[in-house]
Amino acid sequence: MADRVLRFGVVGLSRGFDLTRPTLVADPRVSLVAAADLRPEARAAFAAEFAAPAYDDAAALCADPQVEVVYIATPHQTHADLTALAARHGKHVLVEKPMALDLAACRAMIAATEAAGVRLVVGPSHGFDPPVAAAAALVGSEAFGPARMVTAVTFTDFLYRPRRPEELDSARGGGVVFSQAVHQIDVVRRLVGRPVRSVRAATGAWDAGRPTEGAYQAFLTFEGGASAALTYSGYGRYDTDALMGWVGETGGARDPAAYATARRRLDGADEPALKAARAYGVAGAATPAPVGHEHFGFVLVACERGDLRLTPTAVEAFGPAARWTVDLPAPDATRHAVVDEVWDAVVDGKAPLHDGAWGAENLAVCLAILRSAAEGREIAIADLEIRP
Ligand SMILES: NC(=O)c1ccc[n+]([C@@H]2O[C@H](COP(=O)([O-])OP(=O)(O)OC[C@H]3O[C@@H](n4cnc5c(N)ncnc54)[C@H](O)[C@@H]3O)[C@@H](O)[C@H]2O)c1
Repeated sequence: MADRVLRFGVVGLSRGFDLTRPTLVADPRVSLVAAADLRPEARAAFAAEFAAPAYDDAAALCADPQVEVVYIATPHQTHADLTALAARHGKHVLVEKPMALDLAACRAMIAATEAAGVRLVVGPSHGFDPPVAAAAALVGSEAFGPARMVTAVTFTDFLYRPRRPEELDSARGGGVVFSQAVHQIDVVRRLVGRPVRSVRAATGAWDAGRPTEGAYQAFLTFEGGASAALTYSGYGRYDTDALMGWVGETGGARDPAAYATARRRLDGADEPALKAARAYGVAGAATPAPVGHEHFGFVLVACERGDLRLTPTAVEAFGPAARWTVDLPAPDATRHAVVDEVWDAVVDGKAPLHDGAWGAENLAVCLAILRSAAEGREIAIADLEIRP
């Protein structure tokens, strides 16, 4: 393996990149060879850390012959154009979630990468988490049988983390449905292993000062008869990390005594400055070392013959005659499964699970949540045009 590494170039050096950075640094299959960002301080930090070029323009990064895989970690609305740009330069693409903001953009991204003969992987997202993969491997087995009913509950402080204006404007891709439902959908789709058939949802926008969706409930039905109930609130009150041994979403330890920290920090503060303080290259913004795997809150899968509960360090299995635990010790860095998919696709020619069609279907379910809530009716996924 040592004589073959994936040469990554990163577009967008901020929070998204910073969360994946420990994995890209720790994984011997990856070399970070270049970056591009609009912010000079981010470029300077990258150049200093990796002794590699940091461009002020994504086109220059895509033209760099050293770059083999372009990791697009810029705001949602830029993903489609940057994917097309990378594909035109013959680069494989790892693009952050959500894949894009509409299905036409997803179709264009799939078409551009297919035409160029390059791979497209959409991630990281919580469907890559090892407890999800371990539980998905048990679903359908002799002991458990097919998944019938998934319950996923996530309460966070998402809405009160510092935001750019468009992140609080649903029409421009803001709110918890585009940024957070996409994780929960990714998790339940991987666990059920069948296409989503329909969505009925309600959304909540309860803070006039942050006028976008901060919460939702959605009921998904799947082909084959399974269903999933998704609940999410980003209003920073109850926190489902309490159900996860106070291991946070990105695998780090949380302080159980801390309460309403995000809301308090935001109160009267300069929001762009706060956002900048969380970006890559700023002292103190580094991701804490993991004490468990990443997770997206409480997830319980009821299968025909047994139940599976996901935790940050295990899958708790409740079989027909016994209960046991599949231990999943904390990793050195949390996102190696993303590198696995890119490696398998680029080096071994294996179709990734989180390919463009998968990312587009995740987005279709997000759009169905928004439409169902707006129109007060169930939305059939077949009525959305996912494929070209
Ligand atoms: N998977 C995860 O856990 C996770 C976590 C956070 C963010 N994200 C995703 O990452 C993406 C970025 O989110 P963020 O919070 O880091 O955004 P951000 O606004 O903090 O940062 C975006 C960065 O991209 C740069 N940028 C914007 N347009 C550019 C362009 N055309 N060329 C070069 N650089 C450009 C900006 O200068 C900035 O540094 C989003 O799609 C988000 O959903 C994913």
